[in-house]
Amino acid sequence: MFVVGSGARHLEDELRRLGGKLLGAEIRKFPDGEKYVRILGSADEVTVVQSTFRPQDEHLLELLLIGDALRERGARKLRAVVPYLAYSRQDRVTKDGEPVSVRAVMRAIDLYYDELYVFDLHNPGTLKFFSGKAVNVSPARAIADYFGDKLGEGVVLAPDRGARERARAVAEKLGLEYSHFEKKRVSPTEVQMRPVDIDVRGKNVLIVDDIISTGGTMVKAANLLRKMGVGKVFVAVTHGVFAEGAIERVSKAVDELAVTNTIPTPVSRISIVPDILGL
Ligand code: R5P
Repeated sequence: MFVVGSGARHLEDELRRLGGKLLGAEIRKFPDGEKYVRILGSADEVTVVQSTFRPQDEHLLELLLIGDALRERGARKLRAVVPYLAYSRQDRVTKDGEPVSVRAVMRAIDLYYDELYVFDLHNPGTLKFFSGKAVNVSPARAIADYFGDKLGEGVVLAPDRGARERARAVAEKLGLEYSHFEKKRVSPTEVQMRPVDIDVRGKNVLIVDDIISTGGTMVKAANLLRKMGVGKVFVAVTHGVFAEGAIERVSKAVDELAVTNTIPTPVSRISIVPDILGL
């Protein structure tokens, strides 16, 4: 049985269409702005799907309220599927006095849920902050299915070494070569970026990453590839966080931009719903 929070309403129709059984949930706000949650029905085991994009804090609190309501109704086992986990990039203290925000978030979810499934977590090491079963779900299959035919004899690239694993996962599903961009300081004022150990000339390229925020990383990578004489440039990203103007900036620089629907955006063309149903 599934319960869908307001941060996952955009996934509800497909979840139903593909056979997911949903418990009803009444979710609204009191006149003072506080959230009201009521679960209609009950089940022994429930999977709550709630993405925590903007307004992040509201979506997070709703996830906790749904968990509390389900426990109140006697649910024995609760799984939280959080396609996009807010605060996931705040995974370390950089200045004295700061929290490890993602730890606080995971500990709060831990109070109500036995299992946690997050898609393409920025730092998978942070799953250790959840005491139960915690899984980082890869969207590689969904991305590979979407871009498969368009790439031909293309290559898959990550914009930096840290994202190389993502490129590998997608490339292996497609049977293609992969690599990552490396930064090389060529003078005190200039850093050069180029794909390492791979010949991209004349080939279609798919760049994969976890997040697009300002779009700066992708635009830079795409412009470099154009200068190197590649074929088409495609971009696949898991979480379209998109700061103001980012969709337009990236779309202008590449042949196609597609993100998954962990966050609903105008370019959320790749669905993770089959992956949710397979968990
Ligand atoms: C960085 O570690 C992330 O993986 C992304 O590359 C980054 O968040 C993208 O940010 P932007 O779109 O602002 O360049």
